[in-house]
Amino acid sequence: MLELRYYGDPVLRKAAVSVDKFDESLKEFVSGMIETMRTEDGVGLAAPQIGVSQRVVVIDASGGDQEPYILINPEIVYSSEEREDYEEGCLSIPGINLKVNRPSKVSVKAQNESGEYYIIENAEGLLARALQHEADHLNGILFIDHVSPVQRALLKGKLRKISERQRD
Ligand code: NI
Repeated sequence: MLELRYYGDPVLRKAAVSVDKFDESLKEFVSGMIETMRTEDGVGLAAPQIGVSQRVVVIDASGGDQEPYILINPEIVYSSEEREDYEEGCLSIPGINLKVNRPSKVSVKAQNESGEYYIIENAEGLLARALQHEADHLNGILFIDHVSPVQRALLKGKLRKISERQRD
């Protein structure tokens, strides 16, 4: 299993770089990410969360019933005007779950691990939410950035504990 990075680690705040080599080592890396996501019981995982600042995401919004989505260089090409609140958590910010307001539906264009382009059209519900949350990770954005300043202030103590633990 790959080692998770937690809130306070600077890699989580960096914009990740695009992948341009679709080789065997990328495939191995992606399998490691899927294994880590499953072991940690996550709905999605972005490469910066394991310390690799590259645009790679894996998502399983099916609870293990379907093959996970592998998204290399993902790009949100459509967001609905309609928005909704949905509870989010993050493997890198353990113990914090919050309702976040985001577009209800999105379409995402990405490459698979062989470099072929594909589109996930009009994703909704948990999948739409995971796609947006993980795409944010590639730009150094965390779900807690989307809540109100008041809510953020209430999280201060918890967040400080997570970042202190991560320095030990
Ligand atoms: Ni996350």
